[in-house]
Amino acid sequence: MIKVLFVCLGNICRSPMAEFIFKDMVKKKGLSKAISVSSAATSSSTIGMDIHEEAKIKLTENEIPYNKHKAKKLLKQDYQKYNYIIGMDNSNIENIMHIVKEDPNNKVYKLLDFTDEKGEVADPWYTGNFTKAYNDIEKGCKELLKSIIENYNL
Ligand code: 4NP
Repeated sequence: MIKVLFVCLGNICRSPMAEFIFKDMVKKKGLSKAISVSSAATSSSTIGMDIHEEAKIKLTENEIPYNKHKAKKLLKQDYQKYNYIIGMDNSNIENIMHIVKEDPNNKVYKLLDFTDEKGEVADPWYTGNFTKAYNDIEKGCKELLKSIIENYNL
């Protein structure tokens, strides 16, 4: 099983959108038995919270199914559990490294590094722009899935 963990600051806006968008893409490719997907926060302040209402609206508009969600925090031991630990912005990467300490197996990535444009998924909690966040996440997830399919010959 290839295990993918999306990470953002609060685990209520960007990383849960990424989790459910990516799950939907994986399912549509018939790869749900090969790839598992989850999400986590680097901050403790939102632990237990559900997906932000505006993120739910974006998922619904795009016909992406989602489950009841409880924000959880990234743990040091998650480094061993996952093959891909994917942050949304530079600050997420710094915070991930603070928690996991080192990345000897090159598992830590920034989502948009899989796209030609690179860059960061801006935090809609601060920008208010959930549409831009959704579109950037969708683009990143599409390229991430291509990369996993190639790397693992799926
Ligand atoms: P996210 O957005 O990292 O995309 O989930 C945030 C959600 C909540 C907070 C910050 C960012 N917060 O400070 O509560």
